[in-house]
Amino acid sequence: MNLARRIQNITPSLTLAIEAKAKRLKQEGVDIISFSAGEPDFDTPQPIKQSAIDSLNQGFTKYTPASGILELRKAISEKLSQENHLTYSPEQIVVSCGAKHAIYNTLQVLINEGDEVIIPSPYWLSFPEMVSLAGGKSVILKTEFEAGYLPSPAQLEKLVTKKTKVLILNSPSNPTGAVMSRDLLRQIGEIAKAHSFFILSDEIYEKLIFDGKEHCSIGSLDSELLNLTITVGGASKAYAMTGWRLGFSASPKPIAEACGSLQSHSTSNPTSFAQAGYLEALKSGEPEVKKMRVAFEKRRDLMYRLVSDIPKLKPFKPSGAFYLFVNIHQTRLSSLQFSDRLLDESKVAVVPGIAFGDDHAIRMSFAVSEQLIESGLARIREWLKKI
Ligand SMILES: Cc1ncc(COP(=O)(O)O)c(C=O)c1O
Repeated sequence: MNLARRIQNITPSLTLAIEAKAKRLKQEGVDIISFSAGEPDFDTPQPIKQSAIDSLNQGFTKYTPASGILELRKAISEKLSQENHLTYSPEQIVVSCGAKHAIYNTLQVLINEGDEVIIPSPYWLSFPEMVSLAGGKSVILKTEFEAGYLPSPAQLEKLVTKKTKVLILNSPSNPTGAVMSRDLLRQIGEIAKAHSFFILSDEIYEKLIFDGKEHCSIGSLDSELLNLTITVGGASKAYAMTGWRLGFSASPKPIAEACGSLQSHSTSNPTSFAQAGYLEALKSGEPEVKKMRVAFEKRRDLMYRLVSDIPKLKPFKPSGAFYLFVNIHQTRLSSLQFSDRLLDESKVAVVPGIAFGDDHAIRMSFAVSEQLIESGLARIREWLKKI
C-alpha cells in the first residue's frame, strides 16, 4: 500500500508492544513477571476519581476550550510558579492528551524540514520518532554509564550547528533515571543562549526523585532561558493517571498559541471530565504522590541490590523515575536476544535497550511489588546460570 513517506520511516513503540505482549500472555494464563511497565502500578487516588465522576454527573460532558479549561491552566501556572519557580501565564499553557501529545505538538510547531534536534542517548524512544514525523533530523548525544548518563557541555557544544533548532532534555530520565543538577543545566543553558536554540524540557518524572535530590527546571534559571524553553509535564506518572491522558506544555506565547491552534485542528480539547480530575490532583494529590515516591524508592533500593548481586549484570543506580537501566555487555547477547530469550525461557519481560539507543542494556521497571521484584530476579539469576 502506498502510505505517506512520513509514516514509513517510523517504528511502532517497542515498549508499548512488549507491555501488550506480556499482558496478553498473562491473560492466557502464562505465569509472566513483567518489568516492562512504563506506568505506576498504583491506582489513581480516590479523590481524583471522585472529582471526575462528580463532574460527569454534573454534565461536564461537552467540548472545552481546545487548550484546556482556564481553571486548570491557572492551576498549572500556579503549580509551575510555586514548585518550579517558572513564570508562565495561563495563556502560555496548553493542556494536551498526555505529555507525549504536548511534545508532539511542540515539535510540529517548531521544526522545519531538515532542522536538527539534539537528543541525549539513552533516550525515551518516542523522541527521535516524533522529530522524524516533524521532518527534523535527530542528532544523538551519546552519554555513558561511567559519566552518570549525563551529557557534557563540551560534547553538546561539538554537536551544535547552524541547523540546531531544539535540544531535548529529560530529567529525571527514562530509561536511565539520571537526574541533571542545577549546575549542569546552567552550563547547558549558556550554550543554548549563545546559539539561540530551544530547549524542550520533558519533566514528566519530576516528582519521582530519590536520595533527597531536588528537581530543577532549566527555564527557572533566568528569563532569557525561559524564553527559549518549553517545559513539559503532566499527570500520568506523578498521580498514577496514565490512562487519563493529560499533560501540558508551558512555552513562550507564540509557541503556546501555535500548539493551541494545531491542537484545535487535530484532537480538540483533552477529555472534559479528565481535566476535572487533573485539577483535583493538583489541589489535593501531594500526600499520595509522597507515599508513591517513598514506595518507589524502597523498590529501587531492593531491585538495585538484587541486580548488583547477579553476575554479568551491571545496574546503573537511578536517582529518579522508576526504571533500572542494566548493562548486559558481559552476557554477550544483544539486548533483543536477551529480552526475547528471557521472556520465552523464563517468562520475565524486560525492555531491550536498543529501543532507547543502547544495545548493551535492558530496562527494568520497578513499578511492581517487592514480591514480584524478588521472584522475577530469582528467575533471571537462574536463567543466566544456564545460558
Ligand atoms: C520521558 C517520557 N516523556 C513523556 C512520556 C509520556 O507521558 P504521557 O503518558 O503523559 O503521555 C513518557 C511516558 O512513558 C516518558 O517516559
